[in-house]
Formats: sequence, structure tokens, C-alpha cells
Amino acid sequence: MLTNADLERLVDTSDEWIQTRTGIRERRIVAEGQTTCDLSEEAAKRALEAAGVKAEELDAIIVGTTTPDLVFPSTACLLQDRLGAHGCCAMDVNAACSGFLYALGVADKFIRCGDSSKVLVVGAETLSRMVDWTERTTCVLFGDGAGAVVLTADDKPGIMSTHLHANGAHKDLLNVEVGVSRGFKPETQGGLAIRMKGSEVFKVAVNTLGNIVDETLAANNMTRSDVDWLIPHQANLRIIKATAKKLALPMDRVVVTVDRHGNTSAGSVPLALDEAVRSGKIARGEVLLLEAFGGGFTWGSALIRY
Ligand code: ACO
Repeated sequence: MLTNADLERLVDTSDEWIQTRTGIRERRIVAEGQTTCDLSEEAAKRALEAAGVKAEELDAIIVGTTTPDLVFPSTACLLQDRLGAHGCCAMDVNAACSGFLYALGVADKFIRCGDSSKVLVVGAETLSRMVDWTERTTCVLFGDGAGAVVLTADDKPGIMSTHLHANGAHKDLLNVEVGVSRGFKPETQGGLAIRMKGSEVFKVAVNTLGNIVDETLAANNMTRSDVDWLIPHQANLRIIKATAKKLALPMDRVVVTVDRHGNTSAGSVPLALDEAVRSGKIARGEVLLLEAFGGGFTWGSALIRY
């Protein structure tokens, strides 16, 4: 665990600044040698157990991540081997912080078209591996984590709809400028570090998430009052509050984990969902709106009847 007090010793910041601007108090950081696949495996095993599904029954494994263990094989292939689910389709989806929503959307479509009946969907990140720990504008924001769900084909939803979008024109506002086909030379490419124009990202995130709320409700002929729970990407408490306001939802109907996890990118929505379900907060039949926004920019939502 890395607290705001720990960060005060690393960079010129304060617990007060971090809490006021972001709502973050602490975040989890992987141990030496621990990888995204390690986190994925733990989350996947818990999800399979909760769903009562054996790894051999899976038709597909989709991992949302922007911090894979290797360039290839994908983290999904490494995970498939660990789980002993040999033979099924396995792939990673890179949509930065929207990675879990993208993976969920792809899995939902695999099931709807009849290709698959059981799909493991994971969101997992070790962002701490590419944080510049001398840069106070970014290092206070991020943490490591993973969550997973198992989707099973059924006549009744489940997932009512998913909506996925991107706008690559914003590539300069939030990125890691190192890449294999550019020669992978961190020293000449700005370093293996997340670079973000925070306040510009903030404004686009608030507007975009407001719009995807409208799009999701309209696609399902629903109104704001039909949504029981908001399970948002956990980047910043102020962005979360803006989306809750858009939905006219009180904060006790919003799942918040950013205070303890920081921004875990693709890990954040499934971690929040896991906490909400396992704590018994969410009742069967209730409507959940999941949403995320991240580098790309990418954004997505899912409307779910639990
Ligand atoms: N501690 C103390 N002061 C700081 C820190 C810090 N850690 N970081 C920045 N400051 C200072 C700045 O230098 C600036 O000082 P100045 O006024 O003297 O120039 C001042 O605080 C205000 O900085 P802003 O960047 O304007 O602060 P803002 O209120 O915008 O908050 C934040 C910054 C928290 C990053 C916010 O903009 C934000 O949350 N942005 C969106 C993040 C996000 O949603 N990312 C998307 C997902 S991430 C992904 O996809 C990987």
C-alpha cells in the first residue's frame, strides 16, 4: 500500500492537495516481480469460483490491459495457460482506462452472435511500472489492480447494452510515448512514463461521460430514474460526482473505491463492481450503469440488470 503520506516523502505534494483534487487516500502497488498476469490470475480464479464455471468450459478469455507482461504472447494467452483453459480464444484489448468496458463489450458481442457461451473478462493493470515517480502531476494518481467477471449466455439480460467509442485526435493529452515500432528507446522518446495534460483531460472526460449516459439510456428507452447504481471508472472523485449529478443519483448509489485504489485504469471498474457485489450492496434485479474514460481517448459504458 502507498499512502498520500508516503508520496509526500517522494515529491512536493500534500495529502490535502491529493484528497481535495482527486479523492485518493491510498493505492496498491505490486510487489517486486509481480506482473499483470499474476493479478489477472487471482481475479480470474475468484470470478470463476463465484460463477461456478470451470476454466475448461471457457470459450474465450479477454483481458483489458495497457500494461501486458510481454509484447506477445498476450496476457490473455499467459492467463489461459495458468488456468489450464487450453484451446479457447484468448486476446488482450488495449483501450487504456476503458480496457475493461471494451473487453466486456467484445465479450457481450461474442455471446450475442452465438460464437461463445462462457467468456472470462478481466481488467488488469500494473501502471506503477510506467509511472514517473518524480512527476507529482501524475504519480499521485495511479495504482495497480485487477478484477474479473464471467459472462454466460442466457435468454435474460444480463448486459442490456454496451457502447464503445474512441477519438484518437486527443492522443497528445494522455499517453505513454514509448513503443516497439518506434524503436523502443525510452531515453529518446520521453521515457516510459504516463504523460497527461490533466485539466484538459478532466474537461473532456466530464463532457464525454455525460454524453454516454444519455446515449446508453436512450438506447434502452430508459430514463435517469431507472438506474439504481453507477459503477464508474475510478480516476477522480470530482469526475465521478459530475457523472452522478448528470444521473441525479445520490452518492450513496455510486460505488466509490478511488479513495483506496487510486486510478487502476482497466482494473478500476471490475474492482468496484466486485466490491459492490461481494459487500451485498447491490440487489438482484437492480440496474447498474458502468462507464469508463481513458487514454486514446477511449470511452465506453455498459447497462446491466444484475
Ligand atoms: N501536489 C501538489 N500540487 C500539484 C500536484 C500535486 N501532486 N500536481 C499538480 N499540482 C499543482 C500544479 O502544478 C498546479 O500549480 P500552479 O497552479 O502553480 O501551476 C496546480 O496544482 C493545479 O494543477 P491542475 O493540473 O490545474 O490541477 P487540477 O485541478 O486539474 O487537478 C488532476 C489535476 C487531478 C490531474 C485532474 O486534472 C484530473 O483528474 N484529470 C483527469 C484525470 C483522468 O481522468 N485521466 C483519465 C484516465 S487516466 C488513463 O487513461 C491512463
